Amino acid sequence: MAVRIIIGAQWGDEGKGKIVDLLSKESNYVVRYQGGANAGHTLKFDDKTIVLHLIPSGMFNGDSKCIIGNGVVIDPIALVEEIKEVEQLVDIDLHDRLFISSSAHVILPYHKVLDQVKEKSRGSDAIGTTGRGIGPAYVSKVSRVGIRMGDLLNPELLEEKIRKNLADINNALKHVYNEPELNADEMVSQLKPAIDTVKKYICNTTELLHNAVEMNEPILLEGAQGSLLDVDHGTYPYVTSSSPTAGGACTGSGVPPLAITHSLGITKAYCTRVGNGPFPTELDDSDGEKLRKNGQEFGATTGRPRRCGWLDLIALKYAVRLNGMNELALTKLDVMDDFETIKVCTGYELDGETIDHYPTETDQVERLKPIYKTFSGWQRSTRDISSYDELPENARTYIEFIEEFIGVDFTIVSTGPKRSETIVR
Ligand code: IMP
Repeated sequence: MAVRIIIGAQWGDEGKGKIVDLLSKESNYVVRYQGGANAGHTLKFDDKTIVLHLIPSGMFNGDSKCIIGNGVVIDPIALVEEIKEVEQLVDIDLHDRLFISSSAHVILPYHKVLDQVKEKSRGSDAIGTTGRGIGPAYVSKVSRVGIRMGDLLNPELLEEKIRKNLADINNALKHVYNEPELNADEMVSQLKPAIDTVKKYICNTTELLHNAVEMNEPILLEGAQGSLLDVDHGTYPYVTSSSPTAGGACTGSGVPPLAITHSLGITKAYCTRVGNGPFPTELDDSDGEKLRKNGQEFGATTGRPRRCGWLDLIALKYAVRLNGMNELALTKLDVMDDFETIKVCTGYELDGETIDHYPTETDQVERLKPIYKTFSGWQRSTRDISSYDELPENARTYIEFIEEFIGVDFTIVSTGPKRSETIVR
């Protein structure tokens, strides 16, 4: 039975949510394994639209158990909002559908404040975070002062930990950042209603998944963000604070590496990036504007306009190798329907030399000049096409060039945001 990781092969926003929703029908478990409410996974089905930030994208197609794994950082207040949204959208009983790892770390209001004041203090070196407290929550986790979802079940211990942590944090807020201090009593009472709602979902999800692996049950592991935002392998420090790449799927869920059967990379037919950091194929011209407009490229979490550019095959190949991707899905092909010509980056020039790999040094990535191959566009709508052979010839030429270059085939081609606008090969 398949245990499939679904990973962003770019800088996030590749359309992972749509693909997870599509494949969840055949899965018994769908597991988010890292990140937090910085993610925004948009699902469109039956004339309904929802943007999920924490709840796995397997809630609406079939009846898979949806797990928020130990690697995720959870803002209980944001989670309760999302639970309400899901319950309002569809008639669903989350009781036997949603499971939250007791080992997942909690994002507290102080993490969000720290995220924002740290960004402010970085000035022109700001990372462009989503401001959701993600980085500071992972800092608490790694510094071993984090609060875990299991701690929410013990109010006295929780209050004691919050008070202890706040003493340190208030010190920094007052003396380092010159910001107002936070009040522990207010924080505890602000959290209480959210804890009352989420506590029934908290359990040992690692054990659940170990049993599922042993019973050969199909599992989807849903990544957030993308490979190039990985804290180790991305354009550091312009990265998120977790590991969206394949290794993160194992540590963030407890599923062992040898249980993984498929690594499915999701890439758009072009590139986007939100926040700061190098982006070799970024376009500051009318083509970039057209990609943004056609693709509605505005952040699903923050609403920020996304930076847009041509598809970067060197970066894509790097993601494929990092994650051992043995399948690819191409999304948003329809966004390019009205382009006369389309470019793809097939190499870089770095300080006068041609290179064919993605550098690990961020200052080198900043200096890359892309080398492009130009394709004729297809200038026809690809929406509603459900069979690969019906795609315009120029679209197939573009797709097959990418497959040949990367050495992995597209098993899915998406031509619109709806579940139905998908070609499965
Ligand atoms: P953080 O994850 O909020 O700390 O932000 C770090 C970087 O990751 C920033 O450049 C964000 O814009 C980017 N980022 C975080 N989450 C997402 C996402 O879901 N999609 C795209 N970019 C993201």
